[in-house]
Amino acid sequence: MLRTPIRRAVETGPRVYLRRPTQSDRAEFVALRARNRRHLERWEPIPRGHDAFTPSELDKAFDRELRLRRTKSDERFLICLVTSGAIVGKISISGIFRGPLQECRLGYWLGREFCGHGLMTEAVALATRYAFATLALHRVEANMQPHNHASRAVVRKNGFCQEGFSPKYLCIRGRWRDHERWAVTRENWSDRAPTATPRPIARKPIPGKG
Ligand SMILES: CC(C)(COP(=O)(O)OP(=O)(O)OC[C@H]1O[C@@H](n2cnc3c(N)ncnc32)[C@H](O)[C@@H]1OP(=O)(O)O)[C@@H](O)C(=O)NCCC(=O)NCCS
Repeated sequence: MLRTPIRRAVETGPRVYLRRPTQSDRAEFVALRARNRRHLERWEPIPRGHDAFTPSELDKAFDRELRLRRTKSDERFLICLVTSGAIVGKISISGIFRGPLQECRLGYWLGREFCGHGLMTEAVALATRYAFATLALHRVEANMQPHNHASRAVVRKNGFCQEGFSPKYLCIRGRWRDHERWAVTRENWSDRAPTATPRPIARKPIPGKG
């Protein structure tokens, strides 16, 4: 299905754009998460014994996305393909802290079938640009478990630096997990999004493209 929702985009790159979720995205978003259960649950802060992937929990989670899509402390964006408008993942800006800190944290995931094409590298560039240029923040942070090599590569390619290591930082599947803490400040960031050279040839075709 060819759609033209790019006009609702908050930031647009060569292959993906970011836009806020709306009620009409519920079915597509929930279906994407439901079919990616195994891919996502080992990285997400879900308490032990809680099944976040039942239809009712997925529904509640989407309600949360709508609630947090634009607040003082949070923003939520769907990551969509420029070519088709298909929803391929999500990127969150959370913990927006004003005052003398002026910072936020990024959280992100992509459907498994869309991984490995550089799409999240582009989406993080767009969200970071939004945080600095639109929200006028000073520092953007992203944290990941040490064995999440793909996530580390994404932030590194966006100019983030590792600032530290926090033992038992976040509770994932009932256990407190160590995390690396990566961040970029406005002074050290160069806007890579518009000039990012798309990979000349995708390693495999992006599903839903065209
Ligand atoms: C992490 C995630 C968002 C990455 O998305 P993606 O679109 O595949 O990322 P990109 O293609 O932009 O970049 C991935 C990079 O990681 C690299 N990478 C992937 N697996 C790797 C591994 N096992 N070891 C080292 N590097 C790896 C890729 O080679 C690529 O770098 P390159 O472009 O220099 O080759 C995606 O894998 C995902 O959604 N994972 C599940 C949820 C998750 O982990 N979220 C983040 C929690 S902190």
